[in-house]
Amino acid sequence: MSRPAELMHTDLPGLLHRGKVRDLYDLGDQLMIVATDRISAFDVVMNQPVPGKGVILTQMSRFWLELLPPCNPHHLDYVVQPGRAPIGYEAAVDSLAGRAMVVKKTHILPVECVARGFLIGGGWKEYQESGRVSGIELPAGLQQAQRLGEPIFTPSTKSNTGHDEPISFERAVEIAGEFTASLGMPASAGRDAMWEARRRTLDIYVQGARYAESRGIILADTKLEFGLHGGQLLLADEVLTPDSSRFWPADSYLVGTNPPSFDKQYLRDYLESIHWPKKPPPPPIPVDVLEQTRSRYVEAYRRLAG
Ligand SMILES: Nc1ncnc2c1ncn2[C@@H]1O[C@H](COP(=O)(O)OP(=O)(O)OP(=O)(O)O)[C@@H](O)[C@H]1O
Ligand SMILES: [Mg+2]
Repeated sequence: MSRPAELMHTDLPGLLHRGKVRDLYDLGDQLMIVATDRISAFDVVMNQPVPGKGVILTQMSRFWLELLPPCNPHHLDYVVQPGRAPIGYEAAVDSLAGRAMVVKKTHILPVECVARGFLIGGGWKEYQESGRVSGIELPAGLQQAQRLGEPIFTPSTKSNTGHDEPISFERAVEIAGEFTASLGMPASAGRDAMWEARRRTLDIYVQGARYAESRGIILADTKLEFGLHGGQLLLADEVLTPDSSRFWPADSYLVGTNPPSFDKQYLRDYLESIHWPKKPPPPPIPVDVLEQTRSRYVEAYRRLAG
């Protein structure tokens, strides 16, 4: 992969929202989601880009959308490229190419659809406190990062403040019903959608994780979003990227430890080494740390897509 130009942020007409990593534009019936080269660690966005990261993330989402049948139907109409840009954005096509997705605008179910195949992060924390994760009872004596007998669906609330709370599936179904009722649709439509979202989340996770593991990457867990669009439930947002999922190198996986992240390990190790307090402002990051990080994203994509 040749080295792409870097993009820290976009400032085009129609900006709807700026996330930690992605800039969102309102195109009317569609949205444009631009994956920039911003990188966050410990929930703080660094001041320097990882050049090309956004392109890799967008290509990865597209790769999975095309590979895995349960991703259908989904929201992606096309990825911006030279000769193909939304009307009014042609002049910016060079900076958007390969990294901006034009998608159908949906009503996103206000529930994060999380699948876990391994006991780590918030799931591990909940298990230690209660023996359960999102209301699901697990066997006693499991260790940190242990592979689960079968993947579990552990939804959480989708909050704008960033602190998502784990909820039971029953509660997720209720929330989805209230959501469609608030849109003037039957509550049963939302409840049915949540059942479908659970089934598809687990199918996507199982198929994606099996594929990734055959390529040396453990997909420990993932977060998906689904939205309603003209009576259909579309898979939305990003799909099985290192920003929405935990990627671990399979060869250094060790149960009982917190495995290193495939992509962010150099950055986190560096931030730990300088004893940065993990709150803004971010410190300057040495070029070689950014470069190592970039090579990890390239490597993850190369392993998966060949
Ligand atoms: N097809 C779609 N229709 C409507 N909304 C969508 C669609 N696809 C994605 N979204 C929404 O776009 C937003 C993307 O912004 P978000 O704040 O998650 O960006 P981000 O860079 O991932 O930030 P963060 O790291 O804070 O999550 C999300 O709120 C997501 O629900
Ligand atoms: Mg997000």
